[in-house]
Amino acid sequence: MLIIAHRGASGEAPENTLAAFDLAWRQQADGIELDVRLSRDGRVMVHHDPTTKRLTGTDLSIADSTSDALRQLDFGIWKGPEFAGQRMPVLDEVLAAAPPGKQVVIEIKCGPEIIPALSQVLKNPANHAAQLAVSLISFNLDTLIACQQSLPEIPCLFLQEADASTTNGFSADLITLALEQGFAGLDLDYKGLTETFAAQVRQAGLHLLTWTVNELSQLAHLRACGVEGITTDWPLQFLNSLQQVGEHS
Ligand code: G3P
Ligand code: CA
Repeated sequence: MLIIAHRGASGEAPENTLAAFDLAWRQQADGIELDVRLSRDGRVMVHHDPTTKRLTGTDLSIADSTSDALRQLDFGIWKGPEFAGQRMPVLDEVLAAAPPGKQVVIEIKCGPEIIPALSQVLKNPANHAAQLAVSLISFNLDTLIACQQSLPEIPCLFLQEADASTTNGFSADLITLALEQGFAGLDLDYKGLTETFAAQVRQAGLHLLTWTVNELSQLAHLRACGVEGITTDWPLQFLNSLQQVGEHS
């Protein structure tokens, strides 16, 4: 089972910063997950929210601000003084710092307007994306379909929240949709995942990731589901737990 650090090792370091990604790599995480949005000047910025308000107190919209303006703000200090000076990364620098062979799961938080810039970043040899296992995820179906068409060599996984109104959490229609669109797999809210549905996903030949798992007590169930990877804010805890049962090197 792959352990993927959600927004980096974001339990211990400020989310979506180089500090959080570096900590994840030092903890030997198998991969990182990060969120991207397009800035006004066409850069692929690594940031979760549509604005900078929650993490910096300053309210700048990512889409309406230049990358220079966004990178003036401090995205580390809220987490602790030792993280002061962390900037909003551009995707290029996160990819360039990732160890070869690692998973980088890129969640597109905006619409398909980001795809030309994203494609340039992924194809720039300086970022050595070809040496990484890059995949694209999104809750936005239109965006993911556009990614699949523009970047067919990159696996696309459809993100889905569990439907609390059904016992299963997910409908079999999701599998049909993923197959019809040629997606590589599904990235599902672990709270709605049953062994039955997970088996159906795997039998359909789709990859299966889950998010965002922060309780070690979920590990046995997710192993029984045969999920290939979990996304967590606490990669070290999960790696240690898997190592104890001989399930991770
Ligand atoms: O990995 C998927 C997960 O990150 C989706 O939720 O809000 O943390 O981006 P969110
Ligand atoms: Ca995300």
